[in-house]
Amino acid sequence: MRTCPLLLYFFLIFVVRVKSDPDPLQDYCIAETRNPQTVFLNGAPCINPINAAPSHFTTSALSKPGNTAANPLGFNVTLTNIRNLPGMNTLGLTMARVDIAGNGLVPPHTHPRASEVTILIKGSLLVGFVDTTNRLFTQQLREGDSFVFPKGLIHFLYNLDSKASALTISGLSSQNPGAQLASSATFTTKPSIPDDILKKAFQINGQDVSRIRKNLGG
Ligand SMILES: *[C@@H]1O[C@H](CO)[C@@H](O)[C@H](O)[C@H]1NC(C)=O
Repeated sequence: MRTCPLLLYFFLIFVVRVKSDPDPLQDYCIAETRNPQTVFLNGAPCINPINAAPSHFTTSALSKPGNTAANPLGFNVTLTNIRNLPGMNTLGLTMARVDIAGNGLVPPHTHPRASEVTILIKGSLLVGFVDTTNRLFTQQLREGDSFVFPKGLIHFLYNLDSKASALTISGLSSQNPGAQLASSATFTTKPSIPDDILKKAFQINGQDVSRIRKNLGG
């Protein structure tokens, strides 16, 4: 069978391109987070493996509910990261605890570097994502149900119950997933995106732009 070398070449490029965080080159790389950072690497440097301890691989960061009262949308996300769980450095994953108050909303957002899979521990959630053809996929989750949000796609989580809070736990496929909220990435940037751009993009007038900015605390 003949294969077209050019096609193979593009296929290989594609395979390399869609990889998540690079694979670790050692068993582990306990993040060195104490010193003020002077050298910037793609990630954090490792401590000497001789000094690795079980405590580097454990955290209670997700054991307590986040406070949802301070957030007008009623949600609080607690993440593992290289500071509270330094043993996860270079391993390409993050865990998140998401507390959502009654009728609270984690508004449409993306994680540019990670896919996310969530399991609903408590409550009932309406979750969904939008693919690049603008198709919406939504699902109502009951306790124990899981849902996956593909990498980089806009998604949301809404607590359908007006009184009971919800708790969901997510795994993300990067140690630094990043998060961009669609609303704040357009209306509360620093400096502001020029009004004319927002007016045209959203087909609204200048008053609308100011009102939305103010409502979002921008
Ligand atoms: C999330 O909850 C933690 C723990 O209660 C709190 O310290 C933090 O300020 C909360 N974050 C927001 C954005 O409300």
